[in-house]
Amino acid sequence: MEKAIELIDVRKHFNGTHAVRGVSFEVLDGETLVLLGSSGCGKTTILKMINRLIEPSSGVIRINGKDILGQDPIEVRRSIGYAIQGIGLFPHMSIADNVSVVLRLKGWPEDKKRDRTGEVLDMVGLEPETFGPRYPDELSGGQQQRAGVARALAADPAILLMDEPFGALDAVTRNVLQQELLKLKQTIKKTIVFVTHDIFEAFTLADRIAVLHEGRLQQIGTKEEIISAPKTEFVKDLLLRPIEQLKDFKEAH
Ligand SMILES: Nc1ncnc2c1ncn2[C@@H]1O[C@H](COP(=O)(O)OP(=O)(O)OP(=O)(O)O)[C@@H](O)[C@H]1O
Ligand SMILES: [Mg+2]
Repeated sequence: MEKAIELIDVRKHFNGTHAVRGVSFEVLDGETLVLLGSSGCGKTTILKMINRLIEPSSGVIRINGKDILGQDPIEVRRSIGYAIQGIGLFPHMSIADNVSVVLRLKGWPEDKKRDRTGEVLDMVGLEPETFGPRYPDELSGGQQQRAGVARALAADPAILLMDEPFGALDAVTRNVLQQELLKLKQTIKKTIVFVTHDIFEAFTLADRIAVLHEGRLQQIGTKEEIISAPKTEFVKDLLLRPIEQLKDFKEAH
């Protein structure tokens, strides 16, 4: 399989804070790679570097074999769908306008834009007639998250970056959206980098998981590979925590 995304020894420091300390990994075409790690380990910074919202301090990032630093950042950004942490809908724009914002930047004609906006709203389970004209604060948190995913899908990018897109939701809604994303993946066949700090979410969605800790890659592999042979103490602890929680829960019931 072809490599869709490749990071080689990528580092990022912000005046003294080492956010990313030499990370290398590949994401294959059509694969979902989940970046898993606790708060502050560098997940968002990595996604933003892939999208050229942040420039790396050093290292190489390639998309489809081409170094992105040699390309127009705006073009790079428009070729990638990005669902940002904390939803990030524009509050003064309708849901339809939010979803079609990239299509507008790309100069799509009005009728094509309207059709595509309806199509992606349908994909994420938001009825276009009902939700298109509303403003973000007229939607529930879960519906806003859906709109954020619709916006990322609108221009049909081959690559989707999703930064804790279901992070702010209750467990039930979160589960529904995870299952829907799994279904959607089968029909849209995209390369996805999905960020979470939730190990269960990682296990549900990932083809492979990259575990990060304090700006370093701890291990990358399938769920089975990571469970059967955790490489570092951090990964061992990470795996033990939910198992301990389950044990406690079972003993209490
Ligand atoms: N613009 C910035 N200036 C200075 N430090 C920054 C900046 N952006 C991020 N950092 C620091 O870099 C580290 C990694 O941040 P990052 O946002 O990538 O973490 P994260 O893994 O996404 O965390 P979370 O799960 O809380 O979203 C943190 O210590 C953060 O404080
Ligand atoms: Mg983050």
